[in-house]
Amino acid sequence: MKRNWKKWAALLATAAVVLSAAAYIYAQRKARLEAQPEFVLTYAENQTEDYPTTKAAFYFAQLVAERTGGKVEIQIHPDSALGDELAVMDQMEFGGIDFTRVSLATIADIFPKLNILQMPYLYKDSDHMWKVLDGKLGSLFMEELDGSPFVPLSWYDAGARSFYTTGTPLTHLEDLKGLRIRVAESSLMTDVITALGAIPVPMAFDQVYQALETGQIDGAENNWPSYEAMRHYRPAPYFTEDEHLRIPEMQLISRKTWEKLPQEYQEIILGCAKESARYQRRLWSERVRTAKNDMEKAGVTTSLLAPGEREKFIAAMKPVYDKYSAGYEDLVKAIRALGEEESQTLP
Ligand code: GCU
Repeated sequence: MKRNWKKWAALLATAAVVLSAAAYIYAQRKARLEAQPEFVLTYAENQTEDYPTTKAAFYFAQLVAERTGGKVEIQIHPDSALGDELAVMDQMEFGGIDFTRVSLATIADIFPKLNILQMPYLYKDSDHMWKVLDGKLGSLFMEELDGSPFVPLSWYDAGARSFYTTGTPLTHLEDLKGLRIRVAESSLMTDVITALGAIPVPMAFDQVYQALETGQIDGAENNWPSYEAMRHYRPAPYFTEDEHLRIPEMQLISRKTWEKLPQEYQEIILGCAKESARYQRRLWSERVRTAKNDMEKAGVTTSLLAPGEREKFIAAMKPVYDKYSAGYEDLVKAIRALGEEESQTLP
C-alpha cells in the first residue's frame, strides 16, 4: 500500500512537470506568434531619408505598427531604392510594392483629370492649394482612382516649383529659349516647357544630378527642398524663384494589397495616413525655410523674374490650358474661385 502510494506520487509529479513544460512551451509559442506581424508591407519613396515626405512615411509606419499592435509592419525604402516613380507604379499594379508617395506629375498621364490639379499658375499660394485639396474638390479628384489598381490615402505637400540652371540666371522668358530643361516624365510638364520656349528632356528624378553635371541638360525645375536634398545646386547654382507650378503629391496603397487587409486594418491605415499628412505639412514648411537658407549660404544665386515677366510666363501657358483643361473648364473655375474667396476675406 505504502509502495503504491509512492508510485502514484512519483507519477503525479512527473505528469505535473510534463504539463507545466507543455504550458510553458505553448505560452512561449503564443507570445512569439502574437509578436509576429501578420503583414509585412513595402513602401517606396524616391526622396532621401531625411526629406519631409520620407520622415512622414516613417511616422506613418510607426503609427500603423502601434495601432495594429505590431500586426502590420511597413518597411520604408527611400532614395528610389525600389525603382523610379514609373517603375514603382508598375509594381504597385500587381502588389509587388504595397505603398508609395507619388507626385501627381507621374500619375496624371494615367488619370488625365488630375492634370487639372497641377496646372501652371493655378493656385494663388499654398493656402489656396490646401483649401482645394482639403475640401470637396480634393475628394472629387481622389475619386478618379476608384476602381483603379491604386487606392489614394492622403495628400502630401510639395510646395512650389521654380527653375534652376547651370549657366546664367533666368530673369526673362526669353532666357529659357533653346535651353534643355529636365522635366518629370509627364506630358503636361513636357508641354509647359515647350510652351515656354525651352526643350523638355523627360527623365526620372534620380537621374537629374548626373544630367546636370555632364551637361546633358542646362537646367531643371523643382521645389527648394528637392533642389537641396538631391544636391542639384552644385551643378546648377542659379535658382529663379518663379514658382510656375504647384504639384500636389499622394500617398497610395496598391489595391491588391488593400483588398487583402481586414477592414479593421484598412481603417487604421487610412487614419494614420491622414495623420502623417498633417505631420508632413508641418515638416514641409520648416524644410522650405531651412533649404532656402542653406542654399543661400552654399553660394546659390537666387533671382526673381524681372518686372512684367511673370505675366509673360502666364500668357505663354494658354496652349497648355487649351489642351489640358478642355472639358474641365468648370473645375478650373471652381478651383480659381476658392482662391478669390480667400482674398475677399483678407483685410
Ligand atoms: C518632387 C517629388 C518627387 C518627384 C520630383 C520630380 O520633388 O517630390 O517625388 O520625383 O519632384 O521632379 O521628379
